[in-house]
Amino acid sequence: MSQSFDYIILGSGIAGLSLALELSDHGIVAVITKKSRAESNTNYAQGGIASVTSQEDSFELHVRDTLVAGAGLCKEDVVRKIVSAGPERIAWLVSLGLKFSEREENGIRGYDLGKEGGHSKRRILHAKDVTGREIESALVEAVSSQKNITIFENHFAIDLILSSKIGAPGPRRVLGVYILDRASGEVHTFLSAVVVLATGGCGKVYLYTTNPDIATGDGVAMAHRAGVPIANMEFIQFHPTCLYHKDAKSFLISEAVRGEGAHLVNSAGERFMKNYDERGELAPRDIVARAIDAEIKRRGDKCVFLDLRHKGDDFIRERFPNIYRTCLKYGIDATDEPIPVVPAAHYQCGGVVCGVDGSTSLKGLYALGEVACTGLHGANRLASNSLLEAVVMAHEAAKTIIHNKSEKISCPVPEWQPGNAVEPDELVVVSHNWEEIRRLMWDYVGIVRTTKRLQRAQSRLTNLAREIEEFYWGYKVTADLLELRNLVVVAQLIVRCALIRKESRGLHYTMDFPEPDPAWLHDTIV
Ligand code: FAD
Ligand code: SIN
Repeated sequence: MSQSFDYIILGSGIAGLSLALELSDHGIVAVITKKSRAESNTNYAQGGIASVTSQEDSFELHVRDTLVAGAGLCKEDVVRKIVSAGPERIAWLVSLGLKFSEREENGIRGYDLGKEGGHSKRRILHAKDVTGREIESALVEAVSSQKNITIFENHFAIDLILSSKIGAPGPRRVLGVYILDRASGEVHTFLSAVVVLATGGCGKVYLYTTNPDIATGDGVAMAHRAGVPIANMEFIQFHPTCLYHKDAKSFLISEAVRGEGAHLVNSAGERFMKNYDERGELAPRDIVARAIDAEIKRRGDKCVFLDLRHKGDDFIRERFPNIYRTCLKYGIDATDEPIPVVPAAHYQCGGVVCGVDGSTSLKGLYALGEVACTGLHGANRLASNSLLEAVVMAHEAAKTIIHNKSEKISCPVPEWQPGNAVEPDELVVVSHNWEEIRRLMWDYVGIVRTTKRLQRAQSRLTNLAREIEEFYWGYKVTADLLELRNLVVVAQLIVRCALIRKESRGLHYTMDFPEPDPAWLHDTIV
C-alpha cells in the first residue's frame, strides 16, 4: 500500500514532535515511530535543558563552556547560533504547558537552575529529575490536538527510497520511506518530498547503556546506506554514573546529582576525582568517565559510589524524587547509603552531517536531534546541550522546509519487493548476533581503546555484517532483524572512525596515541 504526505518525520522524540508541531499549519504530516509515541531517549532525560536565563550568566559563557567541552572540534558559528536561540525555544516549550522547577530567592521567584559538569554557571532548566518525561508529554499532548498530524505507532522505517535507485529522472533525491507495520508484518510505501530523520542515537550498540531499547542507530544506518556523509562516530559519550545493580536496566543517576554536590567515592569510601582532575566531580564527562574506569580497574572493583547523604533527606527526596524512588525499588536508600554506579554508553556526538536546519547533502532529506552532526558537540557534548540542540534544530528546519514549499512526488515508485524471502526459522541467530555485537563493542571499543582491539572488533564485525546481510535478504523482515542490520552498520562506523583518528581527543581515547594532535583538528567523515 502506498500513501503520500507533505512531510514524513521518522521519530517522536523532542526533535520529531517539535518539528511536526511547527509544520502542522503548512501541510499534512506523518510521524512514524517504531514503538509507542512517547518511547524515546527524550522521555528518559533527567538533568534538564541548558539555556542562558539568569542575569549572572551570558551567551558568551555558555558558548565558551561548550567549546571547552568539545575539545577543539565544535563549529563556533553553530555553537553561537544554538546557544543564542535557547531562551526563545524555552519560552516556546513553556507555551506548550511545560513547567520547569522554580525556586524563590530574596522574595523573587525564578527558575531553579541546576549545574552539571563543564558548566561555569547554573543554567540547567529542569522539571525535578524527570525533565524528559515532562517535555515528551507536553509535546505528545500538543501534537494530539493537531488534525494535520498523524502518528503511526509501531511502524518501523526500513530504508529511504531514492530516485537514483528507481531510475527516476532529475537530481538525486529522497522520495519517501519503506515502512514496516509491526502489527501486520506488511511493508508500506510512504511517499514525500521531505523526509526527516529524527531517530535519535545508538546507545544499544553497547552492552551497557543508559539508553532505552529504541536507540539502535537506525537513522545513521539509513543515511549511510543512502550515501549521505556521516561524521565523528568515534565520539560516543559514556555517562559516568549509571546505576550498578544486577536487576536494573539502563537507569541513569543524573549528573545533576553531582551538580548539587554529591561525592564520587571508591569502595574504600575515598573521594578520588581530584587525583584525576582539579575540577573534581564536575569535570567534563569524558574525564569523569575515564577516571571512574581507571579507579575501578586500579582497585579491581566492580563499581564506584555516589554519596549524597550530606545533602539531607528532605533535599534528596524533593530534588531527585525519581532517582530516590527507583534506587529504593532496588533496595538502595540514597538518604542512608551511597549509590553504586558505573559508566555506560549514553550519547552519540557524531551522526548525519547536516546544517543547523537539518539539511543534508541529499535533496529532501533532513536530520534533527541526536541522529544529526551539526558541529555543536565537537569531540564531547556539554551536558544538557542535546535537548537544546534538538528543539533549536526543529525550529530552524521548519523555517527552511516551509520556505522551500512542498513538492509532490509524481514519478511511479515501486512497492517493497519481498523477493523469495521466507519466514525466519532461526531467530536465535538474530539474538545471538545482537549480544555479540554489543559485548564486543563494550570490550574492544569502549572508554579506553587501542588500535589492536579496534582492529579485532573490525574484523569480527565484517564477518557479522556479512552473516546479517545474508539473513536480511533471505528472510521476511522483522523489527529485531532490521535493528540488528542497523546496529552492525553503526558499530562498523564507530570502529572505522576510531581507527581513522590517530590521536586522543575528547571522548576518543586510545592508548596508542594518548595525546591530542593539532593535525587532527578536523571531523572524521565517512
Ligand atoms: P529520541 O528522543 O531518542 O527519539 C527518537 C525517536 O525515533 C523515537 O521515537 C524512536 O522510537 C524513533 N525511531 C528510531 N528509529 C526508528 C525507526 N527505524 N523507525 C521509526 N521510528 C524510529 N540530554 C539533555 O540535553 N539533557 C538531559 O538531561 C539528558 N538526559 C538524558 C538521560 C538519559 C537516560 C538519556 C538516554 C539521554 C539523555 N539526554 C539528555 C540525551 C537526550 O535525551 C537525547 O539526546 C534527546 O532526547 C534525543 O532526542 P531525539 O528527538 O533526537 O531522539
Ligand atoms: C544527566 O541528567 O546526567 C544527563 C544529562 C545529559 O545527558 O545531558
